[in-house]
Amino acid sequence: MLNYDAEASTYDRTRGGDARAASAAAAITRLLPSRATLVADLACGTGIVTARVAAPRVVGIDLSHGMARLAAARLPGRIALGDVTAVPLADGSVDAVVMIWLLHLLDHTASARALSEAARVLRPGGTLLTTVDKDAAYYVTPSDVADLIAPVRARHVPPPSDAHDRVTDLATALGLSPAGRTTFPGDGQGHSPRGWAELILTRRLPWTKRADPGTLTALTTGLHTLPDQDRPRPDPVYPLVSFTKG
Ligand SMILES: C[S@@+](CC[C@H](N)C(=O)[O-])C[C@H]1O[C@@H](n2cnc3c(N)ncnc32)[C@H](O)[C@@H]1O
Repeated sequence: MLNYDAEASTYDRTRGGDARAASAAAAITRLLPSRATLVADLACGTGIVTARVAAPRVVGIDLSHGMARLAAARLPGRIALGDVTAVPLADGSVDAVVMIWLLHLLDHTASARALSEAARVLRPGGTLLTTVDKDAAYYVTPSDVADLIAPVRARHVPPPSDAHDRVTDLATALGLSPAGRTTFPGDGQGHSPRGWAELILTRRLPWTKRADPGTLTALTTGLHTLPDQDRPRPDPVYPLVSFTKG
């Protein structure tokens, strides 16, 4: 996992900034029941999304001091340091739990634990919202870049912790029923062919660390043959799903 303390100062700017956060918050609002009063944003990061969640009381929890410090500046008195695998909230104490771009970062054990903790802190009838299939989001909208990269990537990614089917199975076993689905765009996050080639050659994408150099060279050669080398391709589209505690 990235060192989010080191990442904190550039996180907002490099992850779509206010536009992405507003889109994520709008998606949360679409799935959040209007009766939800107390919402816990687990892995709230810098609070850029948390601050936009439309609910009477929103609290945020994050493991990284650097990220939590920025969140606390946005939401004074409402941010705590904590681990999603041992959430510092009482059983049945919140109306909704939000987890944006978290589960894909955790291994299978920790992600299962995070879901179990979410179920524990939700009151009966409460709602869990979580992103799923996060790392596949760049390849959902067809494009010449997606056509080239997706099949190579698919050969190098292990089953993701946030796979929709897996999350649904785990949630169901915890007494949470699927309730809704929406998406939000990663505004401004689409890359050009040249940008993709650089990301791949410098191995900044996790799956590229598992690929052999010849595979990556062949892929970037293909990317360099595409037209409009500096035109960003479609922004990624992130799925957000909700579950209700039975
Ligand atoms: C990709 S960022 C997402 C932040 C925020 N939800 C957003 O959408 O901007 C992932 C966040 O998860 C936090 N995180 C990772 N593992 C965690 C854990 N075990 N407990 C709490 N937070 C964690 C990181 O510190 C980081 O702030």
